[in-house]
Amino acid sequence: MCGIIGYIGKRQAAKILVEGLRRLEYRGYDSAGLAVLNNAGLFVHKSQGKLERLVNRFQSNRCLGNVGIGHTRWATHGIPNEVNAHPHYDSKRKIAVVHNGIIENFRGIRTHLESTGCRFRSETDSEVLPHLIDSYYKGNLLQAVQSTLRQVEGNYAIAVISPNEPTRMVAARKGSPLVIGLGADEFFAASDVTAMLGHTDEVVYVEDDEIVDVAMDGVRISTLSGEPIQRAATTVSWDISQVQKEGYPHFMIKEIMEQPISLRQSINERIQAGRVVFPELEPLSENLGNSDKINQVVFLGCGTAYHAGFVGKYTIEKFARIPAAVDMSSEFRYSSPVVTPGTLVVAISQSGETTDTLAAVRYAKEQGATTIAITNVVGSSITREVDVTINMYAGPEIAVAASKTYTSQLAVLSLFALYVAQLRQPRDVDAIEALLHDIEDLPAQVEKVLTQAATIEHIAKRYSTYNHFLYLGRHINYPSALEGALKLKEISYIHAEGYPAGEMKHGAIALIDEEMPVVCIVSESEVHEKMLSNIQEVHARKGRIIAIATKGDLEIETLIQDTIYLPQIHEFASPILIAVAFQLFAYYVAAHRGLDVDQPRNLAKSVTVE
Ligand code: M6R
Repeated sequence: MCGIIGYIGKRQAAKILVEGLRRLEYRGYDSAGLAVLNNAGLFVHKSQGKLERLVNRFQSNRCLGNVGIGHTRWATHGIPNEVNAHPHYDSKRKIAVVHNGIIENFRGIRTHLESTGCRFRSETDSEVLPHLIDSYYKGNLLQAVQSTLRQVEGNYAIAVISPNEPTRMVAARKGSPLVIGLGADEFFAASDVTAMLGHTDEVVYVEDDEIVDVAMDGVRISTLSGEPIQRAATTVSWDISQVQKEGYPHFMIKEIMEQPISLRQSINERIQAGRVVFPELEPLSENLGNSDKINQVVFLGCGTAYHAGFVGKYTIEKFARIPAAVDMSSEFRYSSPVVTPGTLVVAISQSGETTDTLAAVRYAKEQGATTIAITNVVGSSITREVDVTINMYAGPEIAVAASKTYTSQLAVLSLFALYVAQLRQPRDVDAIEALLHDIEDLPAQVEKVLTQAATIEHIAKRYSTYNHFLYLGRHINYPSALEGALKLKEISYIHAEGYPAGEMKHGAIALIDEEMPVVCIVSESEVHEKMLSNIQEVHARKGRIIAIATKGDLEIETLIQDTIYLPQIHEFASPILIAVAFQLFAYYVAAHRGLDVDQPRNLAKSVTVE
């Protein structure tokens, strides 16, 4: 879950590396480091903590050179300190490596290398790489890296440099993302394209078990055994403004505010003449429309993506009448799930790199399932695993807490459910039309929710000192309660629980007192009356209530003072508006507590370990 970057070209590498690492910091921020090649050899600079600390301690006069590598770390093996920070290098300081992933057989390799006199400094698995490369080095860095990678087990994206070959960088991938950027007289290697935006939009996505030889005159890709690979470059559509704060104090609030745009991108092209179109699903359409071919759908994801899948399950069951289930990817393959060739697995992953989701997809494929991924990252690992990929087109999301990508996931899932419903000759065409109409209208409705930011901030400020929250919802908005609670806990460190309101009286009601604010989703729906009863139950026990209601709900108006009113919308589209309100609430609570909203403690955006 770390971020790596490499640069080779005519400009000073250090500045470009730091700028790239800043964009990759969402992948981990326990420590950071870089290495640059110059006449004096290998200059290495590392620091515990966030990148800013590294930058503050920077001796730029010693860090000159046109070739370098950098790293931002989310610790797995070894505590987050300076010694364990990357780049790691061999005993003679001739090989420097940055690594994202885990070398599973590192213990055996380390023991062997130590027996030959190698001196290790860190506790990391990654440090075996420079020592092993050095042990194979006979004057050709590419060959030494090839030999090393044939010996290691696990997953990696690496970039390697050596003062012995000062105009070369070698990069490789297996299981961790790696993109090569092609500039004018300069080249980049990085965990994702955001690190090189502003320098180039021409990229090559590296596949597993491939190695890339990057020199001043070009890039050569080959297999680990040396067979050359030809791959055309891809032009990236993201632009640099999307990875800058542009005046906002945090990326999260910028990304929350961007939702009318991101939703438009996710939805617009997919509704034509009152019908849902998914050209990418055409190859599967015959099977999707035939209940003898696809007889159940399983939605998989982790964290926020799991909550999106939950909404997907309700929607596809309601409109396409297919039995559907949802599971956390991390639980799925250990629970002996019944997956058959009639199962459609829909894996949801913003990054497309979440290890648990990738593993769950592989398991499902082994059982003969058809697989679809819904992701935001073109060329991500999950796109290589599944039969069909649906892009969310939400644009880059930098804050660790998901906001615009969640609402795009919800929009895409609703459209997907309606697409399948269309294929299955639905009886209730009017119901489909009504939902489709309101999905199309979502960007405008989200804009209205965003105009209430000041009201939500006002409520959030008053509640920002509480230490426990309960979020209650029912039916399609039970997952909204789960997501609201997750958002609050991950950025504000407040204990929050999402709960199905109907279950409250079976236990959770014992928690309710004046110290436990209860956030109740009571928007217009078929469970509105039931939610009102639950609110009364909380009220009777002196619970403080924050309500999410539909504008014009007179009953709520007389009952609850702290209410966030949302525009009227189809019940099955309401989770999107509710999510935006909850994101704003969590954001302002965390901001008023003075916390680092974009980089909450212990978290990383891409979770590439089990
Ligand atoms: O990249 P993914 O969508 O697979 O990530 C899944 C979760 O790690 C992610 O949604 C996480 O829960 C976020 N921090 C939520 O804000």
